[in-house]
Amino acid sequence: MAEKLVIFDTTLRDGEQSPGISLDAHEKLEIAEQLARLGVDYIEAGFPVASQGDFEAVQAIARTVQGPTIAGLSRTQLADVDRCWDALKDAERARIHVFISTSPSHMEHMLKMNQQQVLREVRSGVSRAREHTPDVEFSPQDATRTPLDFMIEVLQASVDAGATTLNIPDTVGYGIPWEFEDLIRYVRASVNGHYTISTHCHNDLGLATANSLAGVKAGARQVEVCVNGLGERAGNASLEEVVMAVKIRGDLFPGLETAVNTQELLRTSRMVSRLTGYPIQYNKAVVGRNAFSHESGIHQHGVLSDRSTYEIIDAASVGQLGSQIVLGKHSGRHAFSDTLKQLGMEVSGEALNSAFSRFKELADRKVEITDADLEAIVAEELGMTTMDNIVLEELEVRGGTAHTPRARVVISNLGEKSESSAEGDGMIDATCKAIAQATGTSPRLVGFNVSSVTGGIDALGDVVIQLEDDEARVSGRGVSTDVVEAAARAYVAALNRLQRTKARARRNGNEPTP
Ligand code: KIV
Ligand code: ZN
Repeated sequence: MAEKLVIFDTTLRDGEQSPGISLDAHEKLEIAEQLARLGVDYIEAGFPVASQGDFEAVQAIARTVQGPTIAGLSRTQLADVDRCWDALKDAERARIHVFISTSPSHMEHMLKMNQQQVLREVRSGVSRAREHTPDVEFSPQDATRTPLDFMIEVLQASVDAGATTLNIPDTVGYGIPWEFEDLIRYVRASVNGHYTISTHCHNDLGLATANSLAGVKAGARQVEVCVNGLGERAGNASLEEVVMAVKIRGDLFPGLETAVNTQELLRTSRMVSRLTGYPIQYNKAVVGRNAFSHESGIHQHGVLSDRSTYEIIDAASVGQLGSQIVLGKHSGRHAFSDTLKQLGMEVSGEALNSAFSRFKELADRKVEITDADLEAIVAEELGMTTMDNIVLEELEVRGGTAHTPRARVVISNLGEKSESSAEGDGMIDATCKAIAQATGTSPRLVGFNVSSVTGGIDALGDVVIQLEDDEARVSGRGVSTDVVEAAARAYVAALNRLQRTKARARRNGNEPTP
């Protein structure tokens, strides 16, 4: 009989803690709906006490998304637990995930509590959660740097108070696979009662997937993962890697199955990348664009004879069907929206109109629009909203080897136009400076990524820019056949997002995240 490996997705909670990611409730809901289509068992939708915005997003997901159980994170304080439950209570099924730090470093420097105080917190927080729901998860934060005896005492206290899942977080990514395997075995052997063991591995040493699998080998039956391996610092174990490892190496995980529909993996990965502004690295396992490309002659020869020579995963099984030419400049609105639907992108109303006119504009400059192009165009359009105050009206650049690069922009800000010119190290630098001047802003540019959406000389350039000031860090995306224009669009998108994020944070009065 097959045994279930529970997939607990924390993209919307731990993943959202990646620097520069700030999703609004609508974007979180869109990702949650896709996670439900993907077939994850749990969606950790947020940390409701952190802010009014987080609370509302968790509540919206709990009220709307069918299928997975919706989880919310909570500290042990009773008010936190109650707030978490308030956000979750309308879900089909709900879980409260209670956590407290247990390592000496965290207890001394952050909690300022001794072991007895931590134990009291665990008992009261978990019992309170259990009054609300029978599905309670407990996490001793920084477990891998916690003395074993104390960790077992804490875990036993949580089970006695009603916890049904014991999550073992490798919070700082310190574990090594065989050590983590031993740790999970030790927990199983030492804590009495009925519970499921879960892993939550961070990737500081690049071992998050390996450690999660080692935990599963030792008997963990839930893994906490993020799409594209997002998460604090170097991220969490990547959902697509763990799921595919268990599937492809079923010989080493006999009888173990996840409920994930792997054909939805690529679509989910792209959607998360588009909404978070975090590009997928080309050589990312399973969902990277190179995951199924072969460069060397010998490899190409092998794959042409039989794909199994150099591929262990069937590309179609993860939704990687390769770029197909789908539309051209004569395509109509109907074909456009039908193709978007096939790509899993539900776009309607005003967003569809503006995505369509953008498509027409680009189709005029580029003969063939592939599905990847289409996704990039729509991603950019959806990243812009009707609430955007700042709009790029005109851009003119001059550069070359004989001139100092110079840009002139016309920007409208709440309908009021202003023009500005600037010089820079290159045309993109000059353009960003001119936009900053025209808008009277001076954010720091902390990330710049340019990639081509497909191959070829007329490929679309896809630029993601991260901006920060003292209050927030955000990203913006721009797509064009001209990379300078793509950068200008990305810069403007990031400025708009920065304004919105700060306005939202001021309205909500944010609390610290875990
Ligand atoms: O990494 C961590 O310890 C966490 C906990 C809140 C589970 O994210
Ligand atoms: Zn974490």
